[in-house]
Amino acid sequence: MCGIVGYIGPQQATPIVLDGLRKLEYRGYDSAGIATINQGKINICRAEGKLLNLEKRLLDQPLIGHPGIGHTRWATHGRPSEINAHPHYAGGFVVVHNGIIENYLDLNTSLREQGHNFSSDTDTEIIAHWIEEHYKECGDFESAVRKALGDVRGAYAVAILSEQEPDKLIVAKQGSPLVVGQGQGEFFVASDIPAMLAHTRQMIFLEDGELVVFTAEAMAITTLAGMPVQKTPKTITWSPVMAEKDGYRHFMLKEIYEQPRAIADTIAGRIREDQAEVFLEDIGLEDVFLKGLERIYIVACGTSWHAALVGKFLLEKHARIPVEVDIASEFRYRDPLVTEKTLTLLISQSGETADTLAALREAHGKAGKVLAICNVVESSIARESDGVIYTHAGPEIGVASTKAFTTQLVALYLFTLYLGDLRGNLDQQNRRTMLDALVSLPGKIEECLKLDDAIEQAAHGLMQVHDFLYLGRGNQYPIALEGALKLKEISYIHAEGYPAGEMKHGPIALIDEQLPVVVIAPHNETFDKVAANMEEVQARGGRVVSVTDQAESGLADKAEIVFVTPKIIDDLMPVLTTIPLQLLSYHIAVLKGTDVDQPRNLAKRVTVE
Ligand code: AGP
Repeated sequence: MCGIVGYIGPQQATPIVLDGLRKLEYRGYDSAGIATINQGKINICRAEGKLLNLEKRLLDQPLIGHPGIGHTRWATHGRPSEINAHPHYAGGFVVVHNGIIENYLDLNTSLREQGHNFSSDTDTEIIAHWIEEHYKECGDFESAVRKALGDVRGAYAVAILSEQEPDKLIVAKQGSPLVVGQGQGEFFVASDIPAMLAHTRQMIFLEDGELVVFTAEAMAITTLAGMPVQKTPKTITWSPVMAEKDGYRHFMLKEIYEQPRAIADTIAGRIREDQAEVFLEDIGLEDVFLKGLERIYIVACGTSWHAALVGKFLLEKHARIPVEVDIASEFRYRDPLVTEKTLTLLISQSGETADTLAALREAHGKAGKVLAICNVVESSIARESDGVIYTHAGPEIGVASTKAFTTQLVALYLFTLYLGDLRGNLDQQNRRTMLDALVSLPGKIEECLKLDDAIEQAAHGLMQVHDFLYLGRGNQYPIALEGALKLKEISYIHAEGYPAGEMKHGPIALIDEQLPVVVIAPHNETFDKVAANMEEVQARGGRVVSVTDQAESGLADKAEIVFVTPKIIDDLMPVLTTIPLQLLSYHIAVLKGTDVDQPRNLAKRVTVE
């Protein structure tokens, strides 16, 4: 997730674009840049790191002129660096982009064959080169953009300037957000409302497949094919702070709702549905090593450790390799048996967790290879690992991890498919079934999010208790742990996650009418046993809250509250059952008045051991 800003009008562009980027820095902050047109010439200034570095550079080399575009980056392809920072230039065109170009490798190959050279490792740069190619044929900026974007597959919100037609700004939207701000004799564009609130409250929200050609005096909104589109500006009443959260009350809720997009972005460019194959661009591990693997350790902390527990089910089931899961702070002290046929798989949203980094060095000090699943490009763990699978969740601001967790599950699922295929354990039919389910996942999460109001209602009757018990079996036991962690870390209510089968070995002594027991009961091979656990809780006066996966579940008489998710193959059910638990913990915490985004005593990156 990155932030883009554009301006066209009579004012100097740089101060307006820079101020807009400041308001979007929460969308990404590993590099930034601005381009303006001055006397028909494009000038660009970029800097690695926080926006402050760009501001300092602009003091030395001011950019004058208008129109202008700018970008603050959250790297997905190409490490954070000045050379990979946007804007990207080719042949008189300059572009800033938020999204992922799925077919950028194919376009890159085709452009190289036509003699193009690339200065960056990004997917974005191909857009400028592709427009340049089309311009050679048609000699018209707008037509060249329409043709170039017609060849692009994936998600984009782009803003483009041209030296050939310097009085125009062109923007287009497909899959990533883009908003137009209408001023008096000037126009603004940005990924999000906060970037423009200082200048206008008249906003036009573009839809997928729409393109806008601006001059200082007018704008023309059409489809990519050129059909005119009528849009009515909306007046925004949000405060700037509210607007940074896109109108959501907390970043955590915003990030819960971003999960369909985050998962779609994590999948994008990594699957070929026709061959039912998975491609992992940065995996950095030889096939021969992966084929010869005898053991995998999955090592992580907190929520990422819960993802690791789900990963064990996936890898042992489909790649048929023994998997051990370790908490990072324990792994490094138990002298683990790491051989040259061992893979240590680290999972870390931040890529900076000290315990996980120490575990990486422990593994590297012995033998075998290290693979990381990270959300931050070029983070310490990503850099020190032999290979990395990036989740494309975008910045996760809320301390309680949500979209990072579900995208970690998707990354593990992709790795399982990749490894199972490589080792001959997953034939094409099985892979196709699994990929079809994966592609349906974002839509099914959208369905889960519709439970929000019912969950908020239920939270009112659950917020006064002092303890919760979460139960799950099989690959739902990690989700019981995750639901309990979400609740305790943001509402400060004590909660424990337990294997449902273990209840009779102790926790059943806790059951009374004050203790809500959240039971995760999808219709899989353990359903009947979990349903029996619910009856055991009810028989002792306990309050059952159930999460299941179909309407006629027969649980109404076993549970006080039943949240029903859509069905999906059991391997992916943990992603869906997590969503109601995230929302339940969120609403209880809001009712209790705790600091949801920055809970007491916690930090987003635990860089101490
Ligand atoms: C999750 O909600 C917590 N914030 C915490 O457990 C977190 O998952 C843990 O600190 C690991 O962080 P990492 O994924 O960045 O390594």
